[in-house]
Amino acid sequence: MKNNIHNLRQRKKANQPFSMVAAYDATFTAALNHAGIEAILIGDSLGMVVQGHTSTLAVTIEQMVYHTEAVVKANQQSVEPALIIADLPFMSYATVESALMNAAMLMRAGANMIKLEGGAWLVETVMRLVECGIPVCGHIGLTPQSVNKFGGFKVQGRQPEQQQQLLADAKQLDKAGADFIVLECIPADLALTITDNVSCSTVGIGAGSVTDAQVLVCYDMLGLSDNPARFVKNFISATVSENPIANAFSSYKKAVEERSYPGAEHEY
Ligand code: KIV
Repeated sequence: MKNNIHNLRQRKKANQPFSMVAAYDATFTAALNHAGIEAILIGDSLGMVVQGHTSTLAVTIEQMVYHTEAVVKANQQSVEPALIIADLPFMSYATVESALMNAAMLMRAGANMIKLEGGAWLVETVMRLVECGIPVCGHIGLTPQSVNKFGGFKVQGRQPEQQQQLLADAKQLDKAGADFIVLECIPADLALTITDNVSCSTVGIGAGSVTDAQVLVCYDMLGLSDNPARFVKNFISATVSENPIANAFSSYKKAVEERSYPGAEHEY
């Protein structure tokens, strides 16, 4: 498998950023494989974009296993499968034991790596996971499972003390054995400092172009989410200047109203 952890980590040294997309089903996985996207994250963002919750907190480990299996099945059909990363959901890694047990469920579902949110407090957990052969992606900055603590989905790391803390967190996760660290919604200069001070690969979302990789949620980048964050770019309208998915739905509605669909060619 070309998109393995070893090869993707090499790209930091070669200054060749790679792409990750959060997706949750077989159809999107096939499309991402087709585009050569190197890594697919089954993010607990599915609690918001698939389940319709206002945060990720309601997502369970069983739901993460279900979506991981769907993504893995499609990914296995690809000639060049992506690296599969699955999120440990809220409170599923509050103790080292629960982290090991729940990470094992995601790995048995076919994930190649698990992701968890938090900094220095996770050092022991990360070390045990890595000792057990489970690759780890950390996640610091705006960690959505802590939205209630933050009082909203807000940019992190603007103050010098917070910047020091985030840098220290990243260094500790790196030392504990994390292979990747997601940096979410932090200033680009802080993302650069972190990227330059860790050996593992940083994956940015709302962290500027300086990280070793980028990640976006599939629905956001296709322009399907209402009120997207400032860091989101709509790659459909950027590519073809209009939104073909929204246009497809309105032309279908119009064709039904005009009775021009179904046409004779669609009849039996
Ligand atoms: O759950 C998710 O999709 C994520 C990414 C936004 C990094 O954690």
